[in-house]
Amino acid sequence: MKKVYLETFGCQMNVSDSERVAAKLAADGFEITPNEAAADVVLINTCSVREKAEHKLYTRVGQIRNSEREKSGNKQIVGVLGCVAQLEGETLFEGRNEIDFVLGTKAVGRVSQAIEQVFAGQKNYFDLGDREDNYDWSVGEAQRHSPYIAFVPIIEGCNKFCTYCIVPFSRGREKSLPASEIIRQVLNLRRQGVKEIHLIGQNVNSYRPKTDSGLENFHGATAFSRLLRAVAATGIERIKFNTSFPRDFHPDIVDALDENENLCNWVHLPVQSGSNNILRAMRRGHTIESYLEKIDKIKSASRKLSLTTDIIVGFPNETDEDFFDTLKMADYCKFDSAFIFKYSPRPGTPAYSMIDNILARNKTERFLELEKLIKSNQRSIFQSYLDKTVKVLVEKISSKNKAELSGHTTCQKVVNFKGSNKLLGKIIEIKITQAKTNTLYGEICDHYVS
Ligand code: SAH
Ligand code: SF4
Ligand code: F3S
Repeated sequence: MKKVYLETFGCQMNVSDSERVAAKLAADGFEITPNEAAADVVLINTCSVREKAEHKLYTRVGQIRNSEREKSGNKQIVGVLGCVAQLEGETLFEGRNEIDFVLGTKAVGRVSQAIEQVFAGQKNYFDLGDREDNYDWSVGEAQRHSPYIAFVPIIEGCNKFCTYCIVPFSRGREKSLPASEIIRQVLNLRRQGVKEIHLIGQNVNSYRPKTDSGLENFHGATAFSRLLRAVAATGIERIKFNTSFPRDFHPDIVDALDENENLCNWVHLPVQSGSNNILRAMRRGHTIESYLEKIDKIKSASRKLSLTTDIIVGFPNETDEDFFDTLKMADYCKFDSAFIFKYSPRPGTPAYSMIDNILARNKTERFLELEKLIKSNQRSIFQSYLDKTVKVLVEKISSKNKAELSGHTTCQKVVNFKGSNKLLGKIIEIKITQAKTNTLYGEICDHYVS
């Protein structure tokens, strides 16, 4: 049995693709191994969203080709999957002899054929083709990143072409999965004992299936809010969704959350900048005023919804005033947490032709200043959980402290606490006793919730 080691960078879509790659390989008689040195094949599922992410591929390939194993002449097959594979294609074979095959973002269903071709002696094998018509989107328990949580893709690709972003080029146009298929999958997952699902896509709010099949009985202003109500009706315990796109984030989504307790208390709504000048240059399709209206709606929900975002600092021509607007916006929104990124020019994107004229030093200064403000708001939000009781899905033994268990609240906060392994997979009540910047700590209340 050939052994395959699979490593994943990037967003949830990549994690989800990797789960299906693992499922396909297992079904086709390969063994997925956690031991890189023992593997016959190393697969790297890559991300291209920032230069640093792309560089990880080259660093990793260098490490593999310089390993003790390689030096002893026992070569491994290296396959590159994902966004860098899709964008670079055949050029990944140039000038080195380090990569054996390349599979684009939609060709991952043919991973076994690719490996077999390489074993059969085919050189520079690549496949950047489309998904098979009968592509299987489901993932069994053995390959999921968690036995209790499942990612369910509902839309792939992106039509938005924000000027800085490579994703529309690496993932192609938006394509929604049929609602009836999504609901069938969620029902299956529920039967298997999965407690939490994440409906995933680059822009879940843009969900637009070809037919209404599966959504006929559900109301909603958009197909996405009808899907949310339909998925809530499956009765699965927790539903989260990611990522939302401000322009397409309809207020009815908040109404759907209000109506259904199993739709979780969390919205991730990337804003990118607080300045209308920069938002226009980014071609985000929203103004800061329209964004804040959506935030007000989210904050007016009957349950407290936690709010997270992504922000880019140092986009070309970002002035001190533009950055100040971002600080002002962040202070108004009081994010539960935020991912901050320094602008990274990506070849092939419209912004690549603009001069990257914010000095690295200034990008770093802005990053740190924004981080300080967001962290300070975040601290008070986390402190406000002290002495409160939250429901936590017990997911795993904490990686930092083997004596503790770890899980998430419905508002997507990490909670660590002491408890028996028998609690894994249960949703239990925890009383919060300590709050650090990114993690809450607590004690088990004396009864299970489910
Ligand atoms: N679909 C989501 C997220 C896409 S990528 C959205 O529309 O927001 C995840 C995050 O990476 C983005 O939200 C953005 O903040 C960041 N990002 C994307 N391209 C980038 C670039 N060229 N430089 C720096 N950050 C970038
Ligand atoms: Fe990229 Fe914009 Fe699409 Fe998000 S919406 S994936 S940032 S192009
Ligand atoms: Fe990266 Fe591709 Fe996701 S570029 S963020 S892995 S869609």
